[in-house]
Amino acid sequence: MAGQIRAIRGMRDILPPETSRWQWVEQVAREVFDLYGYRELRLPLLERTELFSRSIGVDTDIVAKEMYTFPDRHGDSLTLRPEATAQVVRAALENRLDRAPGVQKLYTLGPMFRYERPQKGRYRQFHQINCEALGADAPDLDAEVILMLMEILGRLGLTQVRLFLNSLGCPECQQDFKARLKLFLRTKEGWCDDCFRRREINPLRVLDCKSAHCQGLLKGSPVLKDCLDEACAGHYARVLELLNRFRVPYEENPRLVRGLDYYTRTAFEVVAAGLGAQDAVAGGGRYNGLSQELGGPELPAIGFAIGQDRLLEVLPPEAGRISPPKVFLAALGDAARDRALGLLQDLRRWGLAAEMDFQGRSLKAQMSLADRLGAIYVIILGNRELETGQAVLRRMATGGQEQVALKELPAILANFISGKV
Ligand code: HAM
Repeated sequence: MAGQIRAIRGMRDILPPETSRWQWVEQVAREVFDLYGYRELRLPLLERTELFSRSIGVDTDIVAKEMYTFPDRHGDSLTLRPEATAQVVRAALENRLDRAPGVQKLYTLGPMFRYERPQKGRYRQFHQINCEALGADAPDLDAEVILMLMEILGRLGLTQVRLFLNSLGCPECQQDFKARLKLFLRTKEGWCDDCFRRREINPLRVLDCKSAHCQGLLKGSPVLKDCLDEACAGHYARVLELLNRFRVPYEENPRLVRGLDYYTRTAFEVVAAGLGAQDAVAGGGRYNGLSQELGGPELPAIGFAIGQDRLLEVLPPEAGRISPPKVFLAALGDAARDRALGLLQDLRRWGLAAEMDFQGRSLKAQMSLADRLGAIYVIILGNRELETGQAVLRRMATGGQEQVALKELPAILANFISGKV
């Protein structure tokens, strides 16, 4: 016999009933996005490699080590998207969404791909709930975006979180900061190979190094806040003022730089208790220069992505395990089965989730199947019931039974279920 084929390492099958929790999270996010005026984009999973190398930055871990990149049959270099921000900007520019009046508020849900070492909370195919607001630099928009993120997490019941904030300033502030940081980094020895290389070409990336040893060497390094010019400092102060006003708890983290090169000004991360090493459930920030980096006009923007896999890992296992109340039709004999098919359709027309057996089981086996499926009512239909135009309706929780006219059955059940009787 041929060997069994298994899924690729770091790529998971998400199965029922877990999928209902995924749908619930997406539903809650969509509801909040609607309230804040965000509309959905559906984007390809594959893009030209250059889109990501130009926007995320060639020295980042994502571009240098983690992308699924391959030539297509024509020899063009393609990459499975490692994140969505670059492609949202690409799509907005290509489809001229940036020319429409007002801030363009867009969201997209779906899988991302990074060739990282798989572990709890870290996968090679993972899923993001991603949103971007394009077209304004106002700090009020930053605050609104963060409020919206906290609203989504709050509605899902995730309260044990910490929001970390920093400002990365504009390119001028960053230049000043990088110069100071380089001087500091040169004074220390013992960097990992990556940091040794990056400390000259892209010193910001050293701050983001995952090695505990490098993090130790960074003690006492300069912080961005000291290099912000008046406009960037004012922008940051206004974001903090609004978060205070709306009572969003936050902590400033002057060393937060995020793992992607495109950020300017506000950057943030939400960390959840109970996730271990991979504890960031969401991250985001402003990226005022990205559009120009991609050949577009000036288009200040901000957004965030929630890691859906991690979010679901940290939510209680029962959260979102909702399935519609179900009716099971237990039919005995060919005539009853035939009638049951019509009755099933009637029930569904009334908006009731209804199922029956298709494997010729005995009544006893059908009853236990109904139980396993979580049916709250079972309709028992035999040849005798058919003759009288009646069926037995059994309430699973109590075992109580009554005779009901077949004609009235859907209406009665719909009533029972809507009133949760
Ligand atoms: P990011 O911080 O790279 O940001 O990813 C956002 C979130 O995706 C992380 O906080 C984490 O929850 C989740 N995530 C990342 N990698 C993995 C993985 N290998 N396995 C499981 N979950 C993962 C971005 O991607 C930016 N595009 C966010 C953004 C949107 N910035 C502005 N707009």
